[in-house]
Amino acid sequence: MELKLAFIGLGNVARAFARMLDARRSTLEQEYGISWRVTAIATGSHGCALDTNGIDLNEAVAMVERGESLAALPGASIARSAIAMIESCDADIMFETSPLNPVDGEPATEYIKTALARAINVVTANKGPIAFAYRELKQLASKRGVSFRFEGTVMDGTPVFNLAEYCLPAARVTGFYGVLNSTTNLIITEMERGSTFDDALKQARRLGVAEANADHDIDGWDAAVKAVALANVLMGADLRPRDVAPRGIRGITIDDLNEAAREQSAIRLVSRAYRSGDGVTVTVQPEKVPIASALGSACGTSNVLVLRTDLMGELAIFEYDPGVVQTAYALLSDLIRIHERINRARLSE
Ligand SMILES: NC(=O)c1ccc[n+]([C@@H]2O[C@H](COP(=O)([O-])OP(=O)(O)OC[C@H]3O[C@@H](n4cnc5c(N)ncnc54)[C@H](OP(=O)(O)O)[C@@H]3O)[C@@H](O)[C@H]2O)c1
Repeated sequence: MELKLAFIGLGNVARAFARMLDARRSTLEQEYGISWRVTAIATGSHGCALDTNGIDLNEAVAMVERGESLAALPGASIARSAIAMIESCDADIMFETSPLNPVDGEPATEYIKTALARAINVVTANKGPIAFAYRELKQLASKRGVSFRFEGTVMDGTPVFNLAEYCLPAARVTGFYGVLNSTTNLIITEMERGSTFDDALKQARRLGVAEANADHDIDGWDAAVKAVALANVLMGADLRPRDVAPRGIRGITIDDLNEAAREQSAIRLVSRAYRSGDGVTVTVQPEKVPIASALGSACGTSNVLVLRTDLMGELAIFEYDPGVVQTAYALLSDLIRIHERINRARLSE
């Protein structure tokens, strides 16, 4: 089956995904029966292009990397905005990879609503819409009979949502705890090795793991957005990041870290969720944890998530040295899931 693909954003994640799609073209065709054609691409400052006959994705990636506008793509027509493009494109799946807005999740949420309303399946790597509008987007997708998938939003491509959806049937997630933010974890573990806070932050920037505004990492907002996304999806919560009141790692000193080390402990920025009364409570704060524990052994850019379940006890999932390729893989795995669903629907017609 040929799938028509639309891209919102052609940044680091989408370009890594484009390379993966190209590299796995024959695997997708031979093992899954998937062929694909890109019919629309919207960016923030490199233009928006539409072509039902198919855009040369490699050429589009090269143009963006050269800093050129997609307006110069041969044969493509131009949309005046991303919304205008979504409203008029001919697509089966839209890949939304615009930047995170930790204040309200926009404009990504509006992009996704517009696509779902047109019965276009949506895949996003952007955690904003999950933290601010998951329930509404899920309901809209279900009403329109399409998929809304987002494996890349938390812990990059590590299969967190797919683990719960496909491997834990009938089990309930009753809570979770984890280290979910690479920047703060890198800063803490670099400081444990003797770096200053500022040098450790520079190192996080060099590695490309810090958010554009690193205050969002340091003050715990990135971890709060991720924890709320997890709680909304895995525990049926309807929280927003402002419900968390996160405490970040500002103010942690090398003396604090040394004192913890003397007690065979480490300080980590820990996100937790648990059921309280009828609802779910999420916290994000620095905690002293045993070094010999799942939380304590997450060092550097690595993340860990421990799910508490009613039927499977506690399950820990580690992510070592996350990168953009893992997030691109999440988009690919979501594409394959959506294709399976479209195929099943066609067979049952
Ligand atoms: N990088 C990672 O490892 C990683 C991991 C997990 C999740 N994520 C999430 O994945 C998303 C993409 O990350 P990235 O690293 O690829 O970001 P990025 O390199 O900054 O790329 C963002 C893309 O979105 C476009 N864009 C900017 N504003 C837009 C707007 N208002 N409407 C439509 N498009 C817009 C940009 O276009 P211009 O360049 O023309 O402005 C660019 O093509 C983010 O939400 C991020 O939080 C990233």
